[in-house]
Amino acid sequence: MDDKMSFAYISARDRWPVIVTGAIDDTYRSVAQCDDPEKRNDGKKIVEELARLKYEMQHDRQLTCVAFCIPFPSPVHAQPTRTGTASVLVCIVRIDKWPPIRDDGFPDVAAYNHELEKLGVLTWFSAPWLYCECYLYRRINTYFSLSTHWKNYDVFARQKIDTFRSSRPAVLELAARYKDIVTQMAADKTKAATNDDNEARKLLFTEMCEICLWGNATDLSLLTSLTYEDIQKLQGSEARRASEKNILVNDLGAAYEVLKKAQSEGKRERRVDIVLDNAGFELYVDLILAGYLLSSGLATLIVLHPKSIPWFVSDVLPSDFAALLGALANPKAFYETPSDDEKVQDKTPPPLSNKETGELSFLFQEWARMHAEGQLILRPNRFWTHAGSFWRLPTEEKTLLGDLQSSELVVFKGDLNYRKLTGDAAWDPTTPFTEAIGPLGPESGVNVLALRTCKADVVVGLQPGEDEKLRAMEGGGGDSGARKWAWSGKWAVVSFSGGK
Ligand code: F6P
Ligand code: MG
Repeated sequence: MDDKMSFAYISARDRWPVIVTGAIDDTYRSVAQCDDPEKRNDGKKIVEELARLKYEMQHDRQLTCVAFCIPFPSPVHAQPTRTGTASVLVCIVRIDKWPPIRDDGFPDVAAYNHELEKLGVLTWFSAPWLYCECYLYRRINTYFSLSTHWKNYDVFARQKIDTFRSSRPAVLELAARYKDIVTQMAADKTKAATNDDNEARKLLFTEMCEICLWGNATDLSLLTSLTYEDIQKLQGSEARRASEKNILVNDLGAAYEVLKKAQSEGKRERRVDIVLDNAGFELYVDLILAGYLLSSGLATLIVLHPKSIPWFVSDVLPSDFAALLGALANPKAFYETPSDDEKVQDKTPPPLSNKETGELSFLFQEWARMHAEGQLILRPNRFWTHAGSFWRLPTEEKTLLGDLQSSELVVFKGDLNYRKLTGDAAWDPTTPFTEAIGPLGPESGVNVLALRTCKADVVVGLQPGEDEKLRAMEGGGGDSGARKWAWSGKWAVVSFSGGK
């Protein structure tokens, strides 16, 4: 991560402190609103721990230690030193060795700590990026899980739901489109399909997947550099059309054929799995894809894989799924009640029209029914918040691998999942995707589809010369040695590997 040309370095230096500051502010706010003194004190300790973590990180301290200043003056630790004639008193920093991640009862702690031990002495800037970033979120989680009153508190929940609220224009546009499509498909069910219809179905599948893909461009961990206005621009249909040329690899045709084949063979259960990434708008578009796959008959069961702990700021927890359905269940209350910021600015959000309310309610009824009937289910697994890459799946989580093998298609959403699929390695960018995903490749028994907007350095499956061309574009990195074009979420790769 100390490679100054990588996005890892920028992340650690500029973005993580902002993310931890956000966590401190959020917890502080909740602590301040809390009436129970015991709970308040418990919360204050978490704020202190978060602040200490931020200090350690910014001062590139060791991951294995907790360093803190003994309050000055302390007869034992503070000693005077001399600079010229002036006497300068210094505060001695005492290093206490703590277990790197404290045991909160989950088995992954041992794996995290064992790996840290194997990696040797690491500081925040010298640790491998993937490990260190996962460690950051896992460690933050222990502050809460080891508390008495804040065990299940999601420090990022407020941000996630606020951003979803600010995605209103794109949410409404897609709700209208979804209702049209589903109604049209229901009407067409009785008609025999012509060649033109088949072509149109394939196009529709592509459109739904691309909506789902670009929903990933707007995750909250990147919000440290994007405004809400930027986000809204990224989410509309015009932006999506304009971005088609930015999909550098597009294997959607192969994924469609897999689902089409299972359908035409008359398989009774045709399952699609989605390894989720971000909550809010991205989860919303994931549900649009899920609902479309079920309504079109391309799938009969959708299994969603959320995270089990607050993760990379915006990743989906089971509670985010409930929060999204809750918002859609009562869209007027959700969209018309001013947010805290709007209250301060004395702003009132515009009311929803009856048409808009009806379209959102249609979505809610569809998805709530699918969920209640068991066609749309959530299946958490702690493996998704381990520190390692998905190359470890066959050895670490055989049962999960077996489960994924019974799916027609496993869709991995987002950047982090792509980094984990490819081992976050410095591959030559022309390496085939099937090779870069190692044990999840052709022999794995899993059909993999990655829908990823690029927000990190690793990329594979490009044509020879393409990386060079992108680097030569304005802001692409040029001769600096940095692959800057791949950091912003503006470019995407949709890669398929047939494993069955
Ligand atoms: O871009 C920085 C980063 O935090 C990466 O570390 C991570 O891969 C990504 O953002 C998270 O993006 P996504 O939500 O698409 O996985
Ligand atoms: Mg994410």
